[in-house]
Amino acid sequence: MKIPFFVQEFTAEMEEAAIHALRNESFVGGESVSKFEEEFAEYIGTKYAVSVSSGNAALQISLMALGIDDESRVITPTNSFIASANCIRMVNAEPILADINLRDGGIDMNSVSSGDAQTAHAIIPVHIYGNPCDFDSVKEIAENENFPIVEDACQAHGATYNGKKVGSLGDVGCFSFYPTKNMTVAGDGGMTTTDNEEIALKIKSIRDNGRKTKNEFDKLGFTMRLNTVNAAIGRVQLKHLDEKNTRRREIVSIYKKNLANDCILPENENGKSVYHQIVIKHEKRDQIRQELTDNDIGSAIYYETPIHLQPIYQEYGYKLPNSEKFSKEVMSLPSYPLLTDEQILVICEHVNKIIS
Ligand SMILES: Cc1ncc(COP(=O)(O)O)c(C=O)c1O
Repeated sequence: MKIPFFVQEFTAEMEEAAIHALRNESFVGGESVSKFEEEFAEYIGTKYAVSVSSGNAALQISLMALGIDDESRVITPTNSFIASANCIRMVNAEPILADINLRDGGIDMNSVSSGDAQTAHAIIPVHIYGNPCDFDSVKEIAENENFPIVEDACQAHGATYNGKKVGSLGDVGCFSFYPTKNMTVAGDGGMTTTDNEEIALKIKSIRDNGRKTKNEFDKLGFTMRLNTVNAAIGRVQLKHLDEKNTRRREIVSIYKKNLANDCILPENENGKSVYHQIVIKHEKRDQIRQELTDNDIGSAIYYETPIHLQPIYQEYGYKLPNSEKFSKEVMSLPSYPLLTDEQILVICEHVNKIIS
């Protein structure tokens, strides 16, 4: 049985919404965009949501809207997609890379020195794998040092922490709609969420070339808007997000029941993960992967190389031992909602061959 790591889904409902938007709305700035933003804000529980062209754009524009510039330093964990750190450098600020805890791979605020905390101007905690990070520890330092929090919720649509959706916990939340995410816009896309009107307006302006009014531009900006057709598809996906996240949690419980030992990363004790990735941690990681590959079962490693060891970050000379160890032991199993129970049992059988 061939089991891919990821399966892309294009439903009749998505197709219908796309065609309807293309036939009836402006390709850019159509009413699907504002409707998607309203619905997303309501879902996350923030006053505003402003759509953009990707998760990377969401992060970068959020930092700009908060006034982060070449005199700023911004903290982010090293166990993430490169965009979590690149957005800092794209606005000419200096990244402060933090280590992670070995339990769930989330940011470990104890690894940030008090000197770094005192000189930081913002923090980008990442809800990695769809699991909320230890947000209380982030908030404590951010409040003590009085700097804003930009949540990287690019993998965590619908996850909650102490009952609140991630993306509503900090000053700005950033989401990605890349096709592999828990919800997509059938292409690249992103969203920012905030309760702060001034920040929302700045993000709106920066995504649209720094526009103030039709003919007046009062800041630098990009063309980083979300296209109408993508917003129309996003609205359909948002409607089905909770049911898909429920299926992901079901999938995890089937894995847990059938794997020979408990090697799935735990979810935050104060939170509810949406299991964007189902990650196992095991010393025999490479053998498990080989067994799966030999049997046509897809798997992946997030992340094989922590950000601080990537060629463009080596110049900073960071040594972050937990993430270096973690990256050698973790791997992701298929987690998409279309995965059948039968397929999960086959995957478990092969993993068990190595770990039991
Ligand atoms: C944690 C994290 N941050 C940022 C991004 C960037 O999102 P995008 O690919 O939409 O630019 C991603 C997406 O891959 C991500 O997983």
